[in-house]
Amino acid sequence: MPLLIVLNLSGAQVEVAPGQSLLAALQGVGIDWMHACGAKGRCTTCRIELAAGLDNLAPLTAAEERYRAAGRMSA
Ligand code: FES
Repeated sequence: MPLLIVLNLSGAQVEVAPGQSLLAALQGVGIDWMHACGAKGRCTTCRIELAAGLDNLAPLTAAEERYRAAGRMSA
């Protein structure tokens, strides 16, 4: 199971189940990660900067593709 290491939370380690969003994994262990629109893809407050492990992520959602096309998301 992939392990999410959150560098800006003192290296907190969170297991991410297959198909689970990173936000859901963080919330599942009680980490209060900002998500102003309720993870509906409207605000980007839940965004992360990925240092490694891109190959573990699912393909971009339609909302993520829109933000990337608008220059509001790298990678
Ligand atoms: S919480 Fe709004 S896009 Fe993630």
